[in-house]
Amino acid sequence: MSKKNVSHTKWMKRAIFLASLGKNTTSPNPKVGAVILDKNGNLISEGFHFKAGMPHAEAMAFRNLKKDAKGGSMYVNLEPCCHQGKTPPCVDKVISSGIRKVYVSIQDPDKRVSGKGIKLLKEAGIRVHLGLCKKESLELNKAFIHRNITKKSFGVLKWAMSIDGRIGLKNGKSKWITSEQSRSIVHSFRAEFDAIIIGGNTLRKDNPLLTTRGSKNPEPLRVVFTKSLDLPSKSSLWDCNKAKTIVIYDSSTANESYLKRIPKCVEVEKIPSDNPELISKLLAKRGCNKILWECGPRLATAAIQTNCIQEIITFIAPKILGGENSMNPFGDFDFREMDEIIKLSNSQVSLIGNDICVKNSFEN
Ligand SMILES: NC(=O)c1ccc[n+]([C@@H]2O[C@H](COP(=O)([O-])OP(=O)(O)OC[C@H]3O[C@@H](n4cnc5c(N)ncnc54)[C@H](OP(=O)(O)O)[C@@H]3O)[C@@H](O)[C@H]2O)c1
Repeated sequence: MSKKNVSHTKWMKRAIFLASLGKNTTSPNPKVGAVILDKNGNLISEGFHFKAGMPHAEAMAFRNLKKDAKGGSMYVNLEPCCHQGKTPPCVDKVISSGIRKVYVSIQDPDKRVSGKGIKLLKEAGIRVHLGLCKKESLELNKAFIHRNITKKSFGVLKWAMSIDGRIGLKNGKSKWITSEQSRSIVHSFRAEFDAIIIGGNTLRKDNPLLTTRGSKNPEPLRVVFTKSLDLPSKSSLWDCNKAKTIVIYDSSTANESYLKRIPKCVEVEKIPSDNPELISKLLAKRGCNKILWECGPRLATAAIQTNCIQEIITFIAPKILGGENSMNPFGDFDFREMDEIIKLSNSQVSLIGNDICVKNSFEN
């Protein structure tokens, strides 16, 4: 790589780092960072997008300018927007600033922008370079991109199991398989998500709280998916002071007389079947880029079968539960041949005390 390219990469990496500061807060918007150099290549400003409704990264960088940007260059990890949303279009600001070169890492998948922002910059005589640090930028905004392209939320499935692959005893008891340290990591890890989903049975059996224990404000939306609506009148999820909860039920099977057990502060939404894809679409429409499935085997299996899962996270504890009838993380996928089985990629392994955490991508 030439000296010049090394410095372009350096500034784009800086923009990507700035973008990552909005990690848990920008949804439904993307994570974006911007760097401005003067005409001599000196850093004169930077900024990042913090939250939807607040200024975009480019606008923040212009706000923080230490000197005139005329003749200078900008590095931004996502194509500048060209539409009026909650904030004005960023391309107008770039054009009026007199900046001569814009380095864009990736195009915006949002149809209102996609390529149009770059076109407007070029038409204004600005030199646009597309593609610097593309891989890193795609990774950073993978959930936002997935939602825009598929109209579904990016799904991560997480479960905890023993070293013999069991998630609970045959009598349903499962507390606790992993260590306190692993469970505490899960609480803060939930902050990356816009919503957390369980099935009705996990609610009945475990009565979980599903919060970040204060790592995120507001807490992620808690979602219960039920076919029967046979949910208890007392549940930790009904405490709306801790976090918002929504119950989504299959109207073709649910007994709606059970609705009276659910307190008024809990939102209720019906869908016409038990297809998890409908949940993923519904949450995407509400602006959830990334959702965490913390469900048991039956819903987890259905979520995988309907392509709702893009990544999985497995916590493995050095414990043996044994027993042919102990609970497995999944139900039957009905595979008949080994080439039908699900293959995962990108293994990342870490040790949390004595527990092992494995992350994988799911190739749909
Ligand atoms: N170790 C772990 O990481 C972990 C994580 C989560 C759960 N668990 C354990 O898993 C057990 C519960 O397992 P589960 O499989 O019944 O989990 P679940 O998370 O409750 O999912 C199943 C429930 O989801 C609802 N549902 C809606 N659409 C569905 C669909 N298409 N397919 C299947 N279910 C659908 C139904 O609720 P309704 O019955 O209300 O209609 C169903 O009973 C509990 O004992 C819990 O402790 C373990």
